[in-house]
Amino acid sequence: MAVITLNPARSQGVINKNIYGHFSEHLGRCIYQGLFVGENSPIPNENGMRKAAVEALKNIRVPVLRWPGGCFADEYHWEDGIGPKEGRKRMVNTHWGGVVEDNSFGTHEYLELCRQIGCDPYINANVGSGTVREMSEWIEYVNSDGDSTVVRRRWANGRKDAWAVKYWGIGNESWGCGGNMRPEYYADEFRRYQTYCRQYGDKRPFRIACGPNSGDYEWTRVLMERAGRFMDGLSLHYYTVCGDTWQQKGSATRFTAEEFYKTLVKAAHMDELITRHDAIMTHYDPAHRVGLIVDEWGCWYDVEPGTNPGFLYQQNTMRDALVAALTLNIFNRHCDRVVMANLAQTVNVLQSVLLTEGDRIVLTPTYHVFDLYKAHQDAREIDCYVDAGNTGAGDWQLPQITASASEKDGVTTVTLANLSADRAETVTLRGVAAKAAQGRVLTGKMDQYNDFDASPLAIQPLTGIQVEKDAVTITLPPCAVAELTLQ
Ligand code: AHR
Repeated sequence: MAVITLNPARSQGVINKNIYGHFSEHLGRCIYQGLFVGENSPIPNENGMRKAAVEALKNIRVPVLRWPGGCFADEYHWEDGIGPKEGRKRMVNTHWGGVVEDNSFGTHEYLELCRQIGCDPYINANVGSGTVREMSEWIEYVNSDGDSTVVRRRWANGRKDAWAVKYWGIGNESWGCGGNMRPEYYADEFRRYQTYCRQYGDKRPFRIACGPNSGDYEWTRVLMERAGRFMDGLSLHYYTVCGDTWQQKGSATRFTAEEFYKTLVKAAHMDELITRHDAIMTHYDPAHRVGLIVDEWGCWYDVEPGTNPGFLYQQNTMRDALVAALTLNIFNRHCDRVVMANLAQTVNVLQSVLLTEGDRIVLTPTYHVFDLYKAHQDAREIDCYVDAGNTGAGDWQLPQITASASEKDGVTTVTLANLSADRAETVTLRGVAAKAAQGRVLTGKMDQYNDFDASPLAIQPLTGIQVEKDAVTITLPPCAVAELTLQ
């Protein structure tokens, strides 16, 4: 039996809704064929955006969407993607799959997509192969109402009002695909670029510096020391890779119990990464002014057999759902520092919430986790101590139950997961006096997934909840993610 003790008197603060953000890159079938099917497509669309995808993303209340990359961001020149479509520049997406990028999805289309979803845009500017002027004119084009030549181009392209985009990333993985820079060099570049992130209107741009690659603590130290006072956010990228090399990451759907637990243990490493990067940040920023932005995270496996290796298309099982559940619990618990996170990537790439094929769409198990967790958005985190035994195989062991909790408008939400592939667990919650409780659960076999022919995995009501004077008890099936609402 596991016991979860809630302590509403202790809190890390408000869980920024942007922790539930997503990421969409010009990569494989994420934008083209996934989110954007074009105005003339027989697939139901509004201004070219796939209606079923927009509806699904609205349902999980996507708060923010990062674009256009990723590695693509540092090869992207925004002026190629504006104006009449027939005149837009064609390029080869050398980074991802070598396919032709016709730039038919550009700034206007992206901001239209965000409008339809009802989310905030987060634009990642090009530092690797761009210029300061290019970035600053992009911000002017998007955010200014002044009568300048740049803004007149926007007007001529059919948009009168500025969009007021708040979140701006300055380079992506500048330590790697974004220019192979050293931290000292990038810190100076960041200082220079951010100087020209001008404020137009009353929304100050939120400047996000390229942060470390997983456990590169030296990058964080140098960035915070040399450029900390110029940034509002510092990014962190961490992917969960089950295999031992990038060449053999393992299959998304065919894996052993040992590989299942290995993946979960590797995903749980996110807690240590945040704790240690946070400690460095706190040394330079004790007031926690700079937010940690985990703008790329998720599972990365070998591509599905027969698909373009440069498209990074992978299926999504209950294993991924558990990774999402335990990672989001970690983010909630670190909400005093983590202010945004973006799962990679929304549709048809890596740990996607949606998969598409022609006019068909699949909601993955990971999608359902975001549905189960949505009540945490902008709620007050509350302390939640989990006392549970371990689960695992061989060397890969971790606590069987993961949880986080929050409170909003008198309702307490607890999200929890049973990480055992085959053992149900009774969980008792203490610390809040609940008169009533409801629950929802997603459960299935560890390697089960939804596909175009059948989608067996869906959220069900959680039955058998026992409410007593000072405790609520449930039984979690094996391999399950649940939301419990206490009133
Ligand atoms: O998400 C896929 C790629 O992973 C991104 O383009 C890059 O930033 C990271 O290496």
